[in-house]
Amino acid sequence: MANGTADIGVIGMGTMGANLALNMAEKGFRVAVQNRTPAKAFAVRDDNPDLADNVLPAETLEDFVKSLKTPRRVVFMVPAGQPVDDEMAKIRPLLQEGDVMVDAGNADFNDTVRRSKEVEGSGLKFVGMGVSGGELGARHGPSIMVGGAKDTYPLIEPVLTKIAAKYQDEPCVAWLGPDGAGHFVKTIHNGIEYADMQMIAEIYGIMRDGLKLEPKRMAEVFRDWNTRELASYLIEITAVNLDEIDPETETPMVEVIVDEAGQKGTGRWAVIEAEKLGVGATTLEAAVAARGLSSRRGERADAAKLYEGVEPGQAQFFADEAGLAELESALVTAKIIAYAQGYAAMAAASDENSWNLPLGTIAEIWRAGCIIRSHFLDDIAKAYDKGHTVVNILQSPDFVGRVAKGQSALRRVVAKAALAGIPVPALSAALAYFDDYRRARGTANLIQAQRDLFGAHTFHRFDKDGAIHHQWPAV
Ligand code: 6PG
Repeated sequence: MANGTADIGVIGMGTMGANLALNMAEKGFRVAVQNRTPAKAFAVRDDNPDLADNVLPAETLEDFVKSLKTPRRVVFMVPAGQPVDDEMAKIRPLLQEGDVMVDAGNADFNDTVRRSKEVEGSGLKFVGMGVSGGELGARHGPSIMVGGAKDTYPLIEPVLTKIAAKYQDEPCVAWLGPDGAGHFVKTIHNGIEYADMQMIAEIYGIMRDGLKLEPKRMAEVFRDWNTRELASYLIEITAVNLDEIDPETETPMVEVIVDEAGQKGTGRWAVIEAEKLGVGATTLEAAVAARGLSSRRGERADAAKLYEGVEPGQAQFFADEAGLAELESALVTAKIIAYAQGYAAMAAASDENSWNLPLGTIAEIWRAGCIIRSHFLDDIAKAYDKGHTVVNILQSPDFVGRVAKGQSALRRVVAKAALAGIPVPALSAALAYFDDYRRARGTANLIQAQRDLFGAHTFHRFDKDGAIHHQWPAV
C-alpha cells in the first residue's frame, strides 16, 4: 500500500464501520481500513472487488497511519465506551499535530465532552459525530450529526457531504456545535426513535387486541397511513414487518417473534439527560420503560395469571374498523408531542452547554438517512425557519392548529384503550404532557404547601414578593 495516499481512515470493521468505509470508497475517496483482527479489514476489500481500488486494508495500526494523507483523518466506528478510549490511546502516539480523530459511534455525549477536553492542547483534533440510518444508511447515505471545534469541520466536511443521505439534493449532515453537541443530538434522535416505535407498537396492540385485525390487514392500514401525514421510514417498515410470513410456520412473522424488546442504552440516556435538564421527556421515558417491562416476560406471565379474572370487559370500544381514522389522527398528534419533548430537551441542553444548537438544521438533516426520517420533519424544519424563536413546537403556529384538531382523537383513543385494558403508556404520556403543558394554572401550589409544611422549604405568593414560610398547624 502506497504511503500517504488515503484520504481518510476507518477503524472498526463491524457492520457500521465496513459499510461507512464502502460508502466513502464508492464516493471516490481512498479509504484506509483497520480492525483489531486485521483479516476483517482485508475481507472488506476482497468481498467488494468493485471498490477494491479505493479500500486500503492495513495489517497494523502503524501501516494504517502511514497510509493516510496529512492532516490525517481517522474515524472510529467501534463499540461505545472503553473501546473508543482504548483506540484513541493506541493511535494518539502515532498521530501528529493537526490530525483529526472522529468518534462516529453511539457515544454518551458526556464521554465526548471528556474526550474533547483530554485532547485539548495536544495539537490533535477530536470530533464526536452521530451517525444514523443503520447498516443501509451507513452504506448508501446516513444522516450525520457533527460536534467538535467549528474550525475542524472543514477538514472532514468534503467526505461527509458526499457520503450523507440527500433530501432533495441537500446533504443530511451539519456541524451542530462544540464537543458533545453531535452525540447529544444523536442521543435525542434515538430517544425520539424509541417513542416513535413504541407509539406504533401501541397502535398495533389496539389493532390486535381491540380491533382483532390480522397482521395482513394492519399492513394495509400502515401502508395507507404512509401516504399521508404519518409518511415515514418507521411506518413503512412496520407495514413490511406485518406483511412478512414466517417460511417455517407459514404464519405472520410478528406472531413468532418473542415480545421482549432489546435496547443498547441510547434511549435511556436521552431520558436521563432530559430529566437532568428539568424537561422530562415523558413520552420518550414511557417508551424506554415499556422496553424494560417487555423484557420481564416471565413476571408478566405470572401477573397475567393473578389478574385473570379482572377483565375490563370493554374491548367493544374497538369493535369495528371505523375507528382507524381516529387511530391515525391520535398517532399523528402524539408524535407531534413526542417530538416537541425531544426538541425541548435539545433546546435546554443548548442553553445549558452554550452550544447554540441549530434546531431547524437538525430537523433538516433528519429528513433523510436516519431511522426517524419523515416528511413531518420538514414541517418542523419549516417551523424553525421563519426567523422567529420557537419556544416549544407545541407553541409553533404551524403545529398549534394540528394539535388542537387531533387532540380529541388522541384523548378518545387513550380513554378507550384504558377502558379496554389495552396499555398505551407512550400515547397516554403524550396526552398527559399536552394537558399539563397547556394548563396555565397547575397544581404545584399544593406541592409547595406540603414542602413548606414538612420542611420549611418556603413558597411564593401571587400577591407578594419573596420566599415565604408559613406557620402551618402542627401535625
Ligand atoms: C440509528 C439507530 C441506531 C441504534 C439502533 C438500535 O439511528 O441508526 O438509532 O444507532 O443503534 O436503532 O438501538 P437499540 O438497540 O437501543 O434499539
